[in-house]
Amino acid sequence: MLFRSRLKQLGEQIQKQIQTESIIIHEDPVIPRFAVSPNVMLNLVLGAVVGLVFGIGIAFFLEFLDTSVKTLEDVERYLQVPVLAVIPKEVGILHKQSGSSPDAEAYRILRTNIEFNRKNPEDNSITVVSGGTGEGKSTTLVNLAYICAQGGYTTLMIDADLRRPRLHTFFDINNAVGLTNYLTTELMLEDVILQTPVDNLYFMPSGILPSDAAGILNSRRMSELIQDVKQRFDLVLVDSPPILGVSDASVLASEVDLTMIVIQHRKLPRNMLLRVKQAVENVGGHVIGVVLNNVDVRSDSQYQYYTSYYTYYAPSESQSPVSHQKEAAKSEAAPAKSVASVAAPKPPQGDDQDLY
Ligand SMILES: Nc1ncnc2c1ncn2[C@@H]1O[C@H](COP(=O)(O)OP(=O)(O)O)[C@@H](O)[C@H]1O
Ligand SMILES: [Mg+2]
Repeated sequence: MLFRSRLKQLGEQIQKQIQTESIIIHEDPVIPRFAVSPNVMLNLVLGAVVGLVFGIGIAFFLEFLDTSVKTLEDVERYLQVPVLAVIPKEVGILHKQSGSSPDAEAYRILRTNIEFNRKNPEDNSITVVSGGTGEGKSTTLVNLAYICAQGGYTTLMIDADLRRPRLHTFFDINNAVGLTNYLTTELMLEDVILQTPVDNLYFMPSGILPSDAAGILNSRRMSELIQDVKQRFDLVLVDSPPILGVSDASVLASEVDLTMIVIQHRKLPRNMLLRVKQAVENVGGHVIGVVLNNVDVRSDSQYQYYTSYYTYYAPSESQSPVSHQKEAAKSEAAPAKSVASVAAPKPPQGDDQDLY
């Protein structure tokens, strides 16, 4: 009984000591305007940074995987041959253009570099090769031929791409009679060489395509033909099919003095390029250099520097429009005709140094 009352007493004392208000409000709660989590802004910024780093990483990785030729140094380092010219994207066919075209400057540089890179001034037969189709062999050849002819040198184009002849289409000439007829029959050169509407520019079409294209090119008559036309013309340019896969181009490279490799910018892997060069050298051909074709000079900053002078130094419209336009008009009007004049050996030239 005593114990109980004592317990009650203690309970009352403790009750008194405990404060009635156990919670103290230091500050009134405020409802935030934005959710505390997730932090959208932070997540956005983090996402952007991580995405950017990842994207740049992937871009570098893809660039690392892409082993195609991208710079002039790439070519010179891997192939150990000079770059003779950088041909911009979207060049036209020069003899069909009226007025002076800035594109022509690239081909003038090509002509000059060929002249300075050949060891022997008598090396005047040149073929163009490439690893694959559509890299620009025929386009390069026809434009270079036009520039050389315009410079006053008698130039012969031979369409020896017997797989997919194309040169005749640039001049709207029929290719029914040409190289193959000459090689397989007793036809004379006069019968298969045509004069184009461009002064000084002559053309031997492919002729009807044989089933055995390589065999026909790899013949004594072909070698004799090259030797013959070398004497008659200042410059002989021979178009050829792709060199990887078919033997025609190697055969041609062995018959002519010099071989130019046309490379489509950012297309063929570097190791394939090396094979192109080896294919020429294996048959005793001599690679004079590389033409880097179809370069987007506007977006590739390193080429802007290299090619900006094309337009800068190109003759202005007022300087030489008359002769050029006359020539262009003539090109459109005059049909191709067969020639006899060039079939006669060219008069001996005292100094071949200034061929082009
Ligand atoms: N620098 C260039 N700019 C624009 N088009 C080009 C260029 N080089 C080539 N082409 C185009 O590419 C295609 C293939 O060119 P072509 O000269 O026939 O190649 P290949 O003779 O090597 O097969 C053609 O339609 C041609 O007009
Ligand atoms: Mg071609």
